Amino acid sequence: MKNQWYKNAVIYQIYPRSFKDGNGDGIGDIKGIISQIDYLSQLGIDAIWFSPMYPSPNADYGYDISDYTAINPEFGTMEEFELMVKLLHERGIRVLMDLVINHTSDKHRWFEQSRQSRDNPYRNYYYWADGKGRNGKRPPNNWTSFFLGRAWQYDENTKQWYLHLFDKNQPDLNYFNPQVMREIQQILRFWLNKGVDGFRCDVITLLAKTKGLPNGFPKIALVGSEHYIDGTRMEELLEQLQQVLREYDAFTVGESVFITVPKALRYTTEGNEYLTTVFAFDQVSADNYFGVKQLVRKFSLRRLKKSVGVWQHGLYGKSWNTLFWENHDQPRIVGRYCSATLHRSEGAKMLATVLMTLSGTPFVYQGQELGATSPAFDNLDDYRDVETFRSYATLKKVFGKRGAMKRIKYCSRDNARTPMQWNSDRNAGFTDGDETWIKVNPNYTEINVRSQTLEADSVLNYYRKLIKLRKSDPAFVYGTYTDCMPRSKHIWAYLRRSEYGTLAVVCNFANKNVKFCPPKQMTEPGEYQAVTSDYADSPAALGKTILRPYEAIVYRLKS
Ligand code: NOJ
Repeated sequence: MKNQWYKNAVIYQIYPRSFKDGNGDGIGDIKGIISQIDYLSQLGIDAIWFSPMYPSPNADYGYDISDYTAINPEFGTMEEFELMVKLLHERGIRVLMDLVINHTSDKHRWFEQSRQSRDNPYRNYYYWADGKGRNGKRPPNNWTSFFLGRAWQYDENTKQWYLHLFDKNQPDLNYFNPQVMREIQQILRFWLNKGVDGFRCDVITLLAKTKGLPNGFPKIALVGSEHYIDGTRMEELLEQLQQVLREYDAFTVGESVFITVPKALRYTTEGNEYLTTVFAFDQVSADNYFGVKQLVRKFSLRRLKKSVGVWQHGLYGKSWNTLFWENHDQPRIVGRYCSATLHRSEGAKMLATVLMTLSGTPFVYQGQELGATSPAFDNLDDYRDVETFRSYATLKKVFGKRGAMKRIKYCSRDNARTPMQWNSDRNAGFTDGDETWIKVNPNYTEINVRSQTLEADSVLNYYRKLIKLRKSDPAFVYGTYTDCMPRSKHIWAYLRRSEYGTLAVVCNFANKNVKFCPPKQMTEPGEYQAVTSDYADSPAALGKTILRPYEAIVYRLKS
């Protein structure tokens, strides 16, 4: 029988570069993480997903890997990593690594070999092709990269082009070559033998390209995506990964680009899993068009409820959802789905309430538990992220300098990558050194772990309380989902019903008072009693009331 620990687990994501610096060089590291194990344990989380910790030239800060079986010296040593795993396991915290196997760094020895000559034994580890047109100076096809611009790079040495769906320093691995998968299987084994419990699989649904890499349908963005997202060979490739993963009962969560419910079921149907779970991005797309962050639009609660409903119903009883508001690729949720200035704390708690009361495994990204906000730096020089620079260049052409900067400030990935705010000392207590690799959010004097630990009703203490509650009461975890007011623009009111009990969750997403009258489904016989709320004096019984800005209350039906 498979161990389904992840169902009532809460998973925390650490972006190691920005979590805690243990050696004063301004870059987070393993020593720093070890120094905060008490903090992690007190938060009540069950597992940690670590963004990549392998050696990397940092073209994409770790998502360009130059050695899959070593630890980035910026982060520490293999011995320190092993110690960290041991200490976390002693606290009952599982360890999930980031598995980035769609591409490597161009500094990986496989690619360095591959680019040497057309007959190098590693040539076929990557996609190389002749260019089009006279002299082959046009790319082999019209595909575009996720970081905008074309997905091919010309290599003078062998006069061919190589494919890169992300940055040009991230060449795509060629899974038509069976040797590539054999290498990956070895890598999986390497980490599983070190006691790692599973993997977050980076852009895993891009692995299976269409044979021959044909031209894509021309459109504004992601030309060619019909030839590389959810390709027909996905099951075959995932099965080859599972041959190793299954032996260790390892958990996987697949980052899945533009995933839909039927596709998620294709990968995660219980009893026939190719992946344990997937990340679906609809839940973080209620303030943009087509799931593209840069195409910003006003947040709509109705849109959010609709897409969450599709996933809550779509996977129920067949598979398992993941729930998240943030990760290292998303700006902070406070400032997007609630105000970052007015009632910030209540807004952050309301979003925490939703995250912990839906069906699925909640993921919390470092700093989210403080209600952290995006720093929205004004100056392009303060950004570090390749996607930000690439987007800016394209956005500038369409919206002009000011329009481009406005969008970058809202959606840059660096908004989530500034150092964790531990206290109000210099550099937010993130490092003892003078410099940090990216600027600290200036609001650290106000938002930080130390002050929120002391303040009884802080966002941090609310997260701790909710995590505890969810873990102690299976009614939070299991059960159906019913949206009782789908048409309301301001209120999200839903029921969770299971053999363990019934919860009624009522949240006011508006930054103002809103009248609430319990919908019919919530007035079933019986008495609902509040189990938690983000205001200290919320009504103890479910009934007609005026909900205050971002007020969120969880009621339980008395049995
Ligand atoms: C998704 C990762 O989350 C992101 O940070 C990275 O840039 C791309 N995949 C490429 O690996």
